Amino acid sequence: LDDPSADPFEVAATAAADIARLTGVPQHDIALTLGSGWSKAAELIGETTATLDATEVTGFSKPALAGHVGSLRSILTPKGKRVLVIGARTHYYEGHGTRRVVHSVRTAAATGVKTMVLTNGAGGIKPTWKPGQPVLISDHINLTADSPLEGATFVDLTDLYSTRLRDVARSIDPTLDEGVYCQFRGPHYETPAEVQMAKAIGGHIVGMSTALEAIAARQAGMEILGFSLITNLAAGIQTTPLSHQEVLEAGRDAEPVISDLLARVIGVL
Ligand code: 6GU
Repeated sequence: LDDPSADPFEVAATAAADIARLTGVPQHDIALTLGSGWSKAAELIGETTATLDATEVTGFSKPALAGHVGSLRSILTPKGKRVLVIGARTHYYEGHGTRRVVHSVRTAAATGVKTMVLTNGAGGIKPTWKPGQPVLISDHINLTADSPLEGATFVDLTDLYSTRLRDVARSIDPTLDEGVYCQFRGPHYETPAEVQMAKAIGGHIVGMSTALEAIAARQAGMEILGFSLITNLAAGIQTTPLSHQEVLEAGRDAEPVISDLLARVIGVL
């Protein structure tokens, strides 16, 4: 993937073949990318039939970060759906370029996935939101100044975070709020002034992932559902300093609630 002459879709096809061979599952129906706070949530979805180390699959690498797991799992739901759980997310701030960031999404598409569920831990701009609260992503603003698409690839991003799937999620939990996700480059958190900018341009959630992945998922023709776990309020919205530790703790506290939500939503997809 780091070779500019390599075709990223061919690398994804190779990765999909690795997954099929190593899991014994020829095709997956749903893919679920786990953000910070969401890793336990995969356990209630169904029966794990195979766990792969990221290093076993072409183009994947181990995440360097606490709170992120470096594995891929194949799960069989009670209704017989095959879910590819991606615990090995590559973040844009790691500096390896967008091809590496969206490789898992393209691999999911190459395994036959039609529904891409993207989750993350993020900062909230709405002052009424509480740490530990999950919210739906309704749209995004990509502030990375980059794109996973190369060349003249004029992909439409209308209804990127499927209205239909958001309605499905709200049929499980009618109290789910939603908001516009702003992907910043990171790895630092925003300044209070940047958070005010995000708010002024229509953002409600600040984070460091998801938008670039959603763009690649749309290009691949998948339907997208996005969830943010509000792990903290954004800088200047909350008065205390932000810490990665706080983000991890909010994730742990929210685990039972978001695990149940995710399992029930995946169950009806
Ligand atoms: Cl406040 N900002 C960003 N960019 N990512 C976060 C966050 C804030 N809180 C958790 N993840």
